[in-house]
This record gives sequence, structure tokens and C-alpha cells, in this order.
Amino acid sequence: MKKSNSSNAFPNVRLRRLRTTPAMRDLLQETRLSAKDLIAPVFVQEGLKKPEEISSMPDIQRFPLSRLAGEVDRIMDLGINAIILFGVPSHKYADATSAFDENGIVQKSIQLVRKQFGSRVALVTDVCLCQYTTHGHCGIVVDKRIDNDRSIDTLSKVAISHAKAGADIVAPSAMMDGQVKAIRRGFDGAGFTDVSIMGYSVKQASPLYAPFRDAAHSAPDFGDRRTYQLPFSNAKEAMREIEMDIAEGVDIVMIKPAIPYLDLIYKARQTTNLPICAYSVSGEYALIKAAAMNGWIDENSVMTEFLTSIKRAGADMIITYQAKKMAQLLSK
Ligand code: PBG
Ligand code: ZN
Repeated sequence: MKKSNSSNAFPNVRLRRLRTTPAMRDLLQETRLSAKDLIAPVFVQEGLKKPEEISSMPDIQRFPLSRLAGEVDRIMDLGINAIILFGVPSHKYADATSAFDENGIVQKSIQLVRKQFGSRVALVTDVCLCQYTTHGHCGIVVDKRIDNDRSIDTLSKVAISHAKAGADIVAPSAMMDGQVKAIRRGFDGAGFTDVSIMGYSVKQASPLYAPFRDAAHSAPDFGDRRTYQLPFSNAKEAMREIEMDIAEGVDIVMIKPAIPYLDLIYKARQTTNLPICAYSVSGEYALIKAAAMNGWIDENSVMTEFLTSIKRAGADMIITYQAKKMAQLLSK
């Protein structure tokens, strides 16, 4: 019997036909990044005189309030319409009072952006206590333990202060149980029914946050965050966090870090129709940057591959320190 081979089997499928030229590959591209998918992080530090470099995050700076508008201008000129604000206060307190101060650094930043840019920018704010507490934990500490229920009361106050200042979306990142519900209740009571909540639903206890903690001066001074952040080994538990946030009325769910957790992004995509945000964190940025600065990889190509993969896995929007760089590349 004559042995059949692929050349005379019918149909003669050859996927390479779809990849012959740049124009063909462009036509066939399934996942496309857009500047509109990106959320640019901005650090604002109280009392700074001029922008300050962050050594573990090359090309990323902390800005004084007086230079914030300029940075938002640069971001928006690149076609990015969304930013997430992180405040670095000059004073820290055990009970995080500077986190919900009407004249706090984030509250002033929100007001300024709102005044200068109106509704042209989608303004997201990180709601947590770790930059504002003397001990650097994300909640209120009682007897060396993080008190969940006191913490969510404070988080709700912080979120309301952001909403009052003009935030569109608050993003609670403290990983306290019930934080979304507490914030939504607070919003309903204070009349902020139109302010969205983006839950840091799946926030892993990850060593990849180290550069951020340098940037925001928010490292815990005892213990670690493993009693409230997620164990990276547990996918089912991660899905329960998402289910819980949805039950509490979250508007957007977030998964972070991004690249090591594409399985969870994909899994979340299969189980919910809520918008999904992926946060590609400071450590992911630092890994790419360090290799690129050594000439070992090409930053633009790796950035494009990673961000496209995050979107392909199912993310609708991506928080990334490469937002400006990516938008610049996309505009070419
Ligand atoms: C605050 C917060 C952290 C990040 C976002 N919000 C740090 C942490 O939990 O220690 C990490 C972001 C990053 O690494 O880029 N809770
Ligand atoms: Zn925190």
C-alpha cells in the first residue's frame, strides 16, 4: 500500500500561509494592544521639590504635586486615558490618619487632576494603608496582628475621601475580607453611587512588589503580608476571592502580578463577565528593565510580548509601568 504523506493528503493545511508577510501577519493578528487598554501608575510624594528617580525602577519617578499635571499631560498626549495614583505621605501614623485626610497628598492630587483634566481622564486611586502606617502593614494593627474589621472601617473612610476629591474608581488593595462591601456601603451612605470599585481581588503575597515598596516607602517593619495576601500556590482560593468580591458588589476585578498568573486571568475570564484588570507589578518591570539594560533582551519586544500575552489571557485593561513606553511604540 502506498504510504500517504502530508503533501498528497487533502486538504493541504499549511498555517505558514497566514504568516508570509508583515501585512498578512497584521491582518491575522488576533490580539491587539491599544493605548486605551493601559493604566499608567503615578507616584506623588508630599514635600518633594523635584521629581525623584526610584533606583529599583529605572525611568520611573516620584513626583511632587507641583509636577503632577505635567506628567498627566505627557501620559494623555500618548493616548492613555487612565491613571492610577499612589500617594507617599510625609507623616505616618499607627492608625493611618494621613490616608483619609482631606488635605492629604492623594486627595490633593485627585482634586488637581480633576480640576485640570476634567472628565478626560479615568482616575483610579489605590486604597490601602501601608504607605500611611508607622508599621507599614495594609491594615490596623492590634497586638501585632492585623485587625480585619477595624481595617475595613478605615479603608472605607479612605475610599470616601478619594471619592469626595473626585476619583472615578477606587482600588482597595489591602486584601482585608469584606473591604469591598464596607466601601460600597460607605459610598451608598455618602451618596457616591457612581464611583466604581476595582477590587484587588487576586493579590498574591509576592516578592515581586519589592521595588514598589522602595518607591512608596511601604515595606512592613515586622512580619510579612501572608496573613492577608494570597498564597501563590492556590488557584481555587484565588477564584473564591473573586467570587467574594463579586458578591460584595465589585465593579472590576483585578489580578496581580500578571505574567506569573496568566492561568488565573484566563480562569477568571471563563467564569465572569466582569471587566478584568491585570496589574503587571514593579518586580515584573524590574526584571525586564534589568535584562534590557544589560543588553540581554530587547525591551520593546519583550514588553510587547508580555503585554499582548496578558491581554490574550483575558485581561481587559492593564496597569503597567511601561504604559508610556508601550503607548509610544504603538503610535509609531
Ligand atoms: C499597596 C500596594 C502594593 C502594590 C500595589 N498597591 C504593595 C504591597 O502590597 O506591598 C504593589 C504594586 C507593585 O509592585 O507594582 N498595598
Ligand atoms: Zn498595602
